[in-house]
Order: sequence, then C-alpha cells, then structure tokens
Amino acid sequence: MAKLPIVSFSNLTAKSAAKGTVVFLMRKDGKLPSSAARYDKSGQLTRAAKVGEFNGKAATSLTVIAPDGGPDRIVLAGCGEAAKGSEEDWLRIGGRIKATCGKAQAVTVIAEPAGKDPAFEPEQLARLAMGIKLRAYDFDDYKTKGDKPAKAARYAIASGITTAARSAWKGLDQVSDGVLLARDLVNQPANVLGTVEFAKRAQKLTALGVKVQVLGEKEMRAKKMAALLGVNRGSRRPPRLVVMRWNGGPAKAKPVAFIGKGVVFDTGGISIKPAGSMEDMKGDMGGAAAVTGLMHALAARKAKVNAIGIIGLVENMPDGDAQRPGDIVTSMSGQTIEIINTDAEGRLVLADALWYCHTQFKPQMMVNLATLTGAIVVALGHHHAGMFSNNDELAAALYKAGHVTGEKVWRMPLGSEYDKQIDSKNADMKNVGGRTAGSITAGQFLQRFVEDVPWAHLDVAGTAMGSPKNEYNQSWASGFGVRLLDRLVADHYEK
Ligand code: BES
Ligand code: MN
Ligand code: ZN
Repeated sequence: MAKLPIVSFSNLTAKSAAKGTVVFLMRKDGKLPSSAARYDKSGQLTRAAKVGEFNGKAATSLTVIAPDGGPDRIVLAGCGEAAKGSEEDWLRIGGRIKATCGKAQAVTVIAEPAGKDPAFEPEQLARLAMGIKLRAYDFDDYKTKGDKPAKAARYAIASGITTAARSAWKGLDQVSDGVLLARDLVNQPANVLGTVEFAKRAQKLTALGVKVQVLGEKEMRAKKMAALLGVNRGSRRPPRLVVMRWNGGPAKAKPVAFIGKGVVFDTGGISIKPAGSMEDMKGDMGGAAAVTGLMHALAARKAKVNAIGIIGLVENMPDGDAQRPGDIVTSMSGQTIEIINTDAEGRLVLADALWYCHTQFKPQMMVNLATLTGAIVVALGHHHAGMFSNNDELAAALYKAGHVTGEKVWRMPLGSEYDKQIDSKNADMKNVGGRTAGSITAGQFLQRFVEDVPWAHLDVAGTAMGSPKNEYNQSWASGFGVRLLDRLVADHYEK
C-alpha cells in the first residue's frame, strides 16, 4: 500500500497557507474567499479563474503557480452548490484535490465561505478528507521500480469549524481504513493471500477488540459443512471459516450479521473456466474482504452495535481429488445438493455459512456479499450491485444507504416461480439453474438456507473489482460494501 497522507484540521489563521500548495474551496459560480485576496494582489488569480473557465462545479479544479509568491501553487477546487452535494460528492471533491495536488508534500485546504455563502459543515470536510485518503491508495506492493515517496504527505484542512470537523473525521478515518483493507485484500494475488493467510489477516482485528474465531477443516467437518468443504477438495490449502464478533451494543441486543464469499481463487474447478481474464478470479473473495473491512470499521469507530462477520474461505481448483459434476453433497442444513457445475461454487460456500450463521447466532438480520455471478455484470454492469431480499424494509434501507454513499444497489426479484429451475431429479436441489435468470436462480438457491430471517444478498461481481476508476478510487479493487454497510448500521442498528 502506498504511503497514505496524514490529514489534520486547523483553524483559519493568517499563517495558514504560507507555503507549499494552497487549495481554496470554491462554490459553484462563487467568489474567492476573503483570505485568497492576499494571493491575488495583482488580480492574476481572478484572471486565471476567468480565463480557465473555472466555475466551481463539484470535483473540478484549476491549478495556478502562485502569482504573488509565498506558496508554490494555488489550487481552486470546486465544491458545487452549498445546499446540495451528497456524501459521495464530498468524496469526489476530496479525491479530485488529492489528484490535482499529485506528489505535493504539504497541502493546506482553505475551507472559508466566500461573501454571504453558508458555512461548510463538519461532515462535508470530513468526507473531503476521506476522499483524499481513498484517492491516495495505490496497490504498489510488488512494484520494485520507480520512486516511492519516503514521507507521507500532509494535508491540513483549515476552517472555522475545526473541532467539529475533527471529531467527524475520527469515525470516517476508521471507515476509510476499513475500505482500504478491503481493497488491499482483493488486490493481493492468490499465491500470497490464500485461505490461511486471509484468516490470519482477519485475526488481526483482535487488536481492535473484535473476537475472532477460526474454524479449520476438522471443526467444519464436525459441523457437517459438506457444501463448503466440497468446494475446497481440489485445493492443496486448507479451508477456513472465520467468525468475527464485535459487541459494541447492549448485551441483550440481537446481532446483525454479515457473511462473505471468500473464494481466494476460482478456477472453476473441474468445470474449468476459459483462460481469458481468469487472473481476475483472485478477487473472488471480494465479499469476504468487504465483511472484514466492515468489521474493522465498526470496531475501530466503536460502533454501538453487536455485529457478526462470517467469511467462508476456500479455493476452487481442479485436482484428482476435486469435486465432480454429478456429485451430491449434504449441506449443514440437511438439504442435499447435486453439483452440476463446479464453477457455481460461491453459493455452496454461502449455503453452509448462512445456515451456520443464523442457527448459531440468531441474528436480527443477515446481509451476505458475494462475487456470485457473471450474469449480474451483464444485467447491471459496474455501477450497481444486485440486491436480492426476502424483506422489503431491509431492501429499502439498503437502497437508501446505497444512494447516499454512492455504493448503489438495485433490487432484483426472487420468486418461487424460479424454484423449478434449481430442482434436481437426484437431490433436493442442483447448484445451477440453466441459461436464463442466472443471478436470480443463484439468489433463490441462497434463500433456501436463511429460513425466515430478514436477509439480503448482494451480488458484487461487477462492483467489488474491475469497476471504472473514479475520483476516489484508482485501484482495481474498490472496497465496495464497506461504506454502504457502515452507513446501514449507523442509520438503523446503532443504539
Ligand atoms: N466467481 C464467479 C462469478 C464471477 C464472474 C465473478 C465474473 C466476477 C466476475 C462464480 O463463481 C461463477 O463462476 N459463476 C458462474 C455461475 C454459472 C456456472 C452458473 C458464472 O457466472 O458463470
Ligand atoms: Mn465459479
Ligand atoms: Zn466464484
């Protein structure tokens, strides 16, 4: 991971912005704030904004070599209209500032309303800081050439609301760490991040007060998790089921639970995938990464909630001992599954993880995340995750959280009409439902393992990785789900 910038908050003083790069936040069509006047004695800054057609639109910027000396560069950073701007807009504004400032080591961001403009809000400045941090992430662990800065850059955000902004940033800083943890897990290659190594990284959350329990093959066999275990049969590396528990809520409150698909590499198994882009299947643990990043975020910011994170870690490989098409496995729930295609392995992992979760922990709700189907990428592309749910209230809450965070979800249908596609002539069900409605039949399959617990399944195959770069993410892995679910918890489950 690249060195991340250190963000701090300070008061607006005559001294702020004496050196380095100075950034002025500017509203749409707004004027320069009064503290910019001292860098505009000759009117060059005003002229540059005019000639450069800078209009203050959110997440735009204009860089000028400081005309009157003092700092090196002045950056005008647009933040749009005062009353508008979503949570995500402020990430974009911050990300854009980081991008524009590039390798600058000392940056001062001046958040001073111009003229009669309304004041900035603490939350906005904290999200701007988050945008800076998220944008700075670069997966460069294996780049041995090129120069990496030895020191972290410093970003000071100067405003009239220092204390409030600082305390808003405290929580968001932790959530940012959760997002970057998720990105990093997804970006790591499978030779480095196997099942055992992933479990070890999850165990590091104990330092934040998370109780982490790791089940190995023997323990899972004792619990009769044959659906999950079947997937790992072809791998030289042992499977792991990791249970992370954060108890920040009242002792008696039922937990919320998050379950992640953690296939550290998906070759397809005996139903082997074609070679093209198979390397992307190192990211087939994007659901598990999001759950781990979320647990980090919740624990680090001491969320007032009881939360459980469960990740099923396996590797889907072809081998003399691998699972075959035609095999029938008995899941922990007792339901039998005929394996038609060994490449539909994620649902087999989740079947046992979901069943274990709700029978063992009696959660008030469960959300699972999985890079489950290529079909969801065909249906929704890279800008929405597919959402499947047996509960309208939970679905509505997730939709709303997606809207404000920019980690958008789009509800897809479930329905008993689809059941016959996964009915099997040899077992209770089969693991694929034919050519049509591939993401829905996968959801329908999972639903058989949750009984009547309020539940949502997020198919993140198109959003956890390979989504287009944006102002606050330049990496292949996005960390999708961490901000979304942190917001869901904050808005609905914290007491
Ligand atoms: N991990 C894949 C789904 C996937 C595809 C994720 C592309 C990210 C990008 C999953 O295990 C899989 O192989 N699904 C099959 C299901 C099919 C065999 C019913 C698929 O989507 O083709
Ligand atoms: Mn697969
Ligand atoms: Zn998979």
